[in-house]
Amino acid sequence: KILILDFGSQVTQLIARRVREAHVYCELHSFDMPIADIKAFAPKGIILSGGPNSVYESDYQANPEILNLGIPILGICYGMQWLAHTMGGEVSGGDQREFGYAQVHTEDSQFTNGIFDNQLNTLDVWMSHGDKVSKLPAGFKSIGHTPSCPYAIIENPQKHFYGVQFHPEVTHTKQGRELINRFVLDICQAKPSWTMPNYIEEAITKIRQQVGTDEVILGLSGGVDSSVAAALIHRAIGDQLTCVFVDHGLLRYQEAQMVMDMFGKNLGVNVIHVDASVDFLEKLAGETDPERKRKIIGAEFVEVFQHEASKRQNAKWLAQGTIYPDVIESAGAKTKKAHAIKSHHNVGGLPETLNLQLLEPLRDLFKDEVRELGVALGLPRDMVYRHPFPGPGLGVRILGEVKREYTDLLRRADHIFIEELRNTCDEDGLSWYDKTSQAFAVFLPVKSVGVMGDGRTYEYVVALRAVITSDFMTAHWAHLPYDLLGRVSNRIINEVRGINRVVYDVSGKPPATIEWE
Ligand code: XMP
Repeated sequence: KILILDFGSQVTQLIARRVREAHVYCELHSFDMPIADIKAFAPKGIILSGGPNSVYESDYQANPEILNLGIPILGICYGMQWLAHTMGGEVSGGDQREFGYAQVHTEDSQFTNGIFDNQLNTLDVWMSHGDKVSKLPAGFKSIGHTPSCPYAIIENPQKHFYGVQFHPEVTHTKQGRELINRFVLDICQAKPSWTMPNYIEEAITKIRQQVGTDEVILGLSGGVDSSVAAALIHRAIGDQLTCVFVDHGLLRYQEAQMVMDMFGKNLGVNVIHVDASVDFLEKLAGETDPERKRKIIGAEFVEVFQHEASKRQNAKWLAQGTIYPDVIESAGAKTKKAHAIKSHHNVGGLPETLNLQLLEPLRDLFKDEVRELGVALGLPRDMVYRHPFPGPGLGVRILGEVKREYTDLLRRADHIFIEELRNTCDEDGLSWYDKTSQAFAVFLPVKSVGVMGDGRTYEYVVALRAVITSDFMTAHWAHLPYDLLGRVSNRIINEVRGINRVVYDVSGKPPATIEWE
């Protein structure tokens, strides 16, 4: 396994993704991970990430003892600067910043041998840095340079220490994957044993050891993470698992039916379907403020779930679909010195009040790995590759007060939109549903005038939203073809009585958010 020490770069998670794609297990920890913990983790090699700071700031130092562990180290950007600085080299401030594509001219070496383009001796890389190494420490040599950066790749072949000033983890660096594979597989000699069948086997053993003969309950939402967690735990302990599926009446078209069929019927999982839509709608009546709506939905969810859970006296464990990015985020959200990892919960406040132990079998996995696991466990691809859906559901897609009449209209309009997106296909076999990251309809409780046949109508408006994003922090609106938008609009207006106007949202995030509330 490989250890990645994070100095705060925006793309550190990508390093971990690339290492995992080489089928090598890795973990990401803060740069100041105590040396005793590092030794206990016993990595085959260490990767130092990039970061926004300067090596002359004393707050951003890893423990120099990592240099004496006798294992290979790869420093990326800030990581390379830290390595050079700590070993006696010099780093100088960036009057000349380099940002974007660059071509690195390389020499043959232990690290780069066979990777660069043989005719040109170049690597096409993505640079993003201000500071750079200006004097190499003893034992190092430069094996790659750009016109403005004499030390773009450095190596110390005796110690197996390497540094790259660019970012091999991003896809813009053409041979980045090969460089990371070279380091992880050839230089560190880490075993490529991180594969899905191995993972499933180990995870099942671990779940069985953890829970023994105890009962486990899990809040199933129909989303990818809780569904895959349910399938995995069920594979491990069968009927010791009970899922509680709280239907708040704010789900998508036929979603409750789909979840019950898939888990109850197809997989034979114990699922309790709690239809709490009446309670939720009652609590929401008259409320128009978005934040208060969210709070009401969250609190009601906890109450309904707790009520069901309290009926299962023997349950000792609460299972959750926490995934690795949640773990990293909750650790990183605290001050940089604090390591206590807060447990992530989608259904706020549950663990504390229920007095149950937490079972989180997906906490080592990235989202793509969770999806791969879901497919391997027999969940349908369509389900596992679904767009994200917010916990408060249609509650944040109906502007202002939520009423059953509105949820019914919105559900049908949204279903038509999604169906039409799925029914498209480009030359690569991808539909617009695949090509967008999230798409949905929003209900606007305003009426506008229309004409249908000989009559005047005065009905509601639906807005369509489709975005493309990699992290949901920023997003572009999707440039859907006009004929597709036209088809969706026609169908909604013809098939959903009560809606006579459809508009398309052309706002990016920022300044708009993805959801309307
Ligand atoms: P925004 O609207 O903030 O959304 O641009 C970013 C992503 O987060 C999802 N989202 C939520 N997910 N509970 C959730 O579980 C929520 O309250 C919530 N609000 C927004 C949203 O669907 C998008 O994917």
